[in-house]
Amino acid sequence: MKKIYLYGNWKMNMTVAETKKFFEGFSSQYQPYKNDAGLEVGVFAPFTSLWALADCAKNLGIVFGAENVYSEDKGAFTGEVSIPMLQEIGIKYVILGHSERRHIFNEPDEMIAKKVKAVLAAGMTPILCYGETLEEREGGNTFKVMERQLKSAIDGLSADDVKKIIYAYEPVWAIGTGKSATSEQAQEVCAWSRNLIGIKDVVILYGGSVKGSNAKELLSMNDIDGALVGGASLKPDAFIEIYKAYKA
Ligand code: 13P
Repeated sequence: MKKIYLYGNWKMNMTVAETKKFFEGFSSQYQPYKNDAGLEVGVFAPFTSLWALADCAKNLGIVFGAENVYSEDKGAFTGEVSIPMLQEIGIKYVILGHSERRHIFNEPDEMIAKKVKAVLAAGMTPILCYGETLEEREGGNTFKVMERQLKSAIDGLSADDVKKIIYAYEPVWAIGTGKSATSEQAQEVCAWSRNLIGIKDVVILYGGSVKGSNAKELLSMNDIDGALVGGASLKPDAFIEIYKAYKA
């Protein structure tokens, strides 16, 4: 079996107290898989919970990261958080370009590209999200949109840096809707993305309503290396169930 990345994006959920409670429950569920070289678990939390997350995650040896960051190191950017601020608390992974950042907060491709470059320059790993809306899919523009999103983020980067990025295909219509892409749809896009990126062994995750019941089918596809999970990552048993189901 291939190595699987199981990354949870908590979005705007989980206070400090809830973070600690999550890990009380998660530790025992994770125990049976802890030494499984075929599994990499990661959790991405809101800024205010990162300190607590870092503490819990370090003990378990799992990946932990932020859900966003700004590209400048400091200055007059009210409400933003910088890379050095994240580094100070041991953060090495950052989600960038999530569809909620793109569509609710209107982050343009150019801003996301700057963030990707800054995160890489700091020696950290960006999890670059991309994906089409329902309207774009139905209009036959899926690949055009994704090509724009992917190319704008990786243009000008060295092959080494392109390879350091973890990619996450998240069709907007599948996020939080309970309606996942089919394994064939997700496989088609992930294979296409790998080709466009031009490096065979980059890591590409699928995100959008991943749960225990659809995990095996999705994660068994050739070009899907793991899952970026929203809703089902908020409860320890639902989160680990995804890997259990894949292994079963
Ligand atoms: P859901 O798993 O809740 O659909 O969210 C997916 C997602 O946006 C992960 O980044």
